[in-house]
Amino acid sequence: MTHVTQEKWSSGTAFLLAAIGSAVGLGNIYRFPYVVGENGGGAFVLLYLGIVLLFGIPLVMTELTIGRRRQLPPITAFTELSEGKKSQPFWKFVGFSSILTPLGILGFYFVIAGWTLNYVYSIITGQLNNLVEGQTLAVFTEMQQSPATLIFWMTLSLLITAFIISRGIKAGLEKAVNILMPMLFAILVILVIYSAFNGGMVETFEFMFTPDFSKITGRTVLEATGQAFFSLSLGSATMLVYGSYLPKDTSIPKLACGVAFADTFVALIAGFAVFPIIFNNGLEIDSGPNLVFVTLPVIFDQMPLGQAFGILFFLLLAFAAITSTISLFEPAVSNLEERGIFSRKKASVVVGFGLWCLACLSALSMNVLSDLRVLTFNDTVASKNIMDLLEYMSANAMMLINSLFAGIFLGWILNRKEALEELGLGDSILFKFWRAIIKYIVPVVVGYLIYAFFTGQMGG
Ligand code: PFF
Repeated sequence: MTHVTQEKWSSGTAFLLAAIGSAVGLGNIYRFPYVVGENGGGAFVLLYLGIVLLFGIPLVMTELTIGRRRQLPPITAFTELSEGKKSQPFWKFVGFSSILTPLGILGFYFVIAGWTLNYVYSIITGQLNNLVEGQTLAVFTEMQQSPATLIFWMTLSLLITAFIISRGIKAGLEKAVNILMPMLFAILVILVIYSAFNGGMVETFEFMFTPDFSKITGRTVLEATGQAFFSLSLGSATMLVYGSYLPKDTSIPKLACGVAFADTFVALIAGFAVFPIIFNNGLEIDSGPNLVFVTLPVIFDQMPLGQAFGILFFLLLAFAAITSTISLFEPAVSNLEERGIFSRKKASVVVGFGLWCLACLSALSMNVLSDLRVLTFNDTVASKNIMDLLEYMSANAMMLINSLFAGIFLGWILNRKEALEELGLGDSILFKFWRAIIKYIVPVVVGYLIYAFFTGQMGG
């Protein structure tokens, strides 16, 4: 098969910025604080950190290695790397499944990215001024009930993403992250300082770092693993594809540590931006998804310079979302381009249109299609609307399954010499440790978690 040669990142740093952009997203700033809030704080944070160290970093290394080995997108990469093996058709299928997963994620992620853009606009235009909590809840619910609003903002987030992707790696992705990531970090720092001056830091510190192990249940473990994999963009072709654009003279282990460190740091810092405000105002920390879209706007409204900080906060969310949506969009486009099926521009339009239809369905499932329920296979929750189902299947089940197979592939299928060469760690203790995790621990633990998921222990 002839391949269309693909662009590469201009340097390791360019990759690092893009991969951190992918990892840092709604998962860190919107989801992490509320999941910590719902799961009791310190013990969950500790568990999360353990999972990132033990599984997260080795799996990011694994995906980057599979991508960079032949510098090809997932389907071709898995196929070529399993050349001569009886199981080759299966691995081709794994490549295919890992490309479908980010599309499923985008089906709901674009809708939430749209919410963040809508909130930037609403705060700028003063629509969230002088509201108390019941009223911000009404604004949030009204938005979810309005197909036109949801679809408008979702479409905007999709168009921005597709535009960036259509311009290619250097002129599109690199340029976007070069602009967005420094702004994102700057806003985050400003928000933490703002929070620090407004009190509540001590409570936040205690809440996030005093573990109460009685809070850990089987379900918490699943929840923490799901959160870590989602946050590190694992199991969804992103790291495979970003790895395939990685120059050969860069160090995969170092870059993987860099991505995991930055991603975790931002998640923790997001906690320090959000929780002090909540504690200081005596509000509930476990209000789930409403934390950011219902509780925070009320508080911003009451604080000095609150409107400006509200705008900054939702801009931060929007930037974080866009640098993640581009990484979720890229695998399908990269695959179509490399196989010579479409040019990059055409592929962006075709994939974009397909995703737009899916995201419309997901937006409508909150209102006009809310009665349309899709049955899930276990009886924890008998049925789900389309948006929840997309999240449940792609962001939970498929990410775990793809990560499991990536681990098995590198541990058992790809020959040891190739992995050794690609990682550049020599035949050291570090290499042996990494390989043992991928070869034995990941299949057992992640395999068990998938079993737990499908037998309903993951809950709703
Ligand atoms: N890591 C992103 C977040 O935390 O929001 C979400 C994500 C991006 C998941 C890219 C998977 C992916 F491939």
